[in-house]
Amino acid sequence: MPTGPLAGTIRVPGDKSISHRALMLSALAVGESRISGLLEGEDVMATAAAMRAMGADIERSQNGEWRVHGVGVGALLQPQSALDMGNSGTSTRLLMGWIASHAITATFTGDASLSKRPMGRVIEPLSEMGADITASPGGRLPLMLRGAAPSVPITYRLPVASAQVKSAVLLAGLNTAGITTVIEPVPTRDHSERMLAGFGAELTVEHESDGTRIIRIRGEAELRPQIIDVPGDPSSAAFFIVAALLVPGSDVIIENVGLNPTRAGLVEVLRAMGGAIESMNPREVGGEPVADLHVRHSALTGIDVDPAVAPSMIDEFPVLFVAAALAQGRTITSGLDELRVKESDRLAVMATALKAVGARVTETPDGLIIDGTGGDPLPGGANAPIATHLDHRIAMSMAIAGLASRAGVDVDDTSPIATSFPNFQAMLDSLSPAE
Ligand code: S3P
Repeated sequence: MPTGPLAGTIRVPGDKSISHRALMLSALAVGESRISGLLEGEDVMATAAAMRAMGADIERSQNGEWRVHGVGVGALLQPQSALDMGNSGTSTRLLMGWIASHAITATFTGDASLSKRPMGRVIEPLSEMGADITASPGGRLPLMLRGAAPSVPITYRLPVASAQVKSAVLLAGLNTAGITTVIEPVPTRDHSERMLAGFGAELTVEHESDGTRIIRIRGEAELRPQIIDVPGDPSSAAFFIVAALLVPGSDVIIENVGLNPTRAGLVEVLRAMGGAIESMNPREVGGEPVADLHVRHSALTGIDVDPAVAPSMIDEFPVLFVAAALAQGRTITSGLDELRVKESDRLAVMATALKAVGARVTETPDGLIIDGTGGDPLPGGANAPIATHLDHRIAMSMAIAGLASRAGVDVDDTSPIATSFPNFQAMLDSLSPAE
């Protein structure tokens, strides 16, 4: 490999999903909440700006702690201009939920990537609750949402495995009299449930024998302000886990990684491929399981990835595809239709990108089949820079592919990385030997 071994100890920024929720719930709690470890990426800042526009007082202290004075459930103010969601699907869908049960009207706009993403999945249940939503053709942004007051509690069975849809309905339910129920046949990340309960909402989760979860929230709750410590984002740690596994001689410790079981699928899959990933110092941070991960270079073997793990690593497939491209033998993934509606069509974009740098990849309707090099570096050095389509995870995954290639990889646009991981490049540089 042209890159020397990666070595050292790092701490990735705060979890994006948890950061959004910490700001949103604090903004509806009466009194001062304090958040440390908040991810200061563009997506989370879009949430902060929207909550400010609706009356919350949000400030960053000198020491990096964030202080939020909330308005109280039911008391969001009418924003005076459109809410610009940038690249952030989570901000959009969760805030649509909040506003759906408030007597305000908001217009949502976003960048070119977000404006292509489907919002019908939240429009449908929120309309059932009484919200009046006028979207652009295809159920897309820009859209205008007029909240319902009073809104109607519903029982909603999720037609797609989506934590964003689940959360939108639960957040709308918080300001809806009675009990709002979400039935989740396939479990997805449960940060909303954990944090709502932590803020004092009356929320119960029932587990059926077939794995279905039934989540009930009682509305018109008061939220109590909290002190929150946001754990490191496993979706950001993923890039360094794969980099350390692929680059010979690497030995890296990643501290404070959130390992909520609804998020930890990548670690399990990489271990099954032969990856040396050791969990150390397991503990709880901010109501979430956390550990330090010790990752060493490993010979990986291709596997057939069980589609049932997909929700617990939904954002990690692009970088898993990179790992598979250097494994011994074939990796088969399936059941990944949802990857086509992320920040980009991650199946098509990763297939094109990996093929351009010399990997052997076949795209299927719902997955990729990858025949790995058996540990040899990829050729790299594509004819043209890799097209990242405004997708931060494509840019970072292909940067890791570059480390594992002979000629390196150029990407067309690294700016989207700032949506979730502003110091990605600096952290990567800190693990490489000085030139
Ligand atoms: C998220 C849920 C997932 C994930 C996204 C963050 C969340 O999206 O891909 O990055 O914070 O709830 P879906 O709900 O669309 O699966």
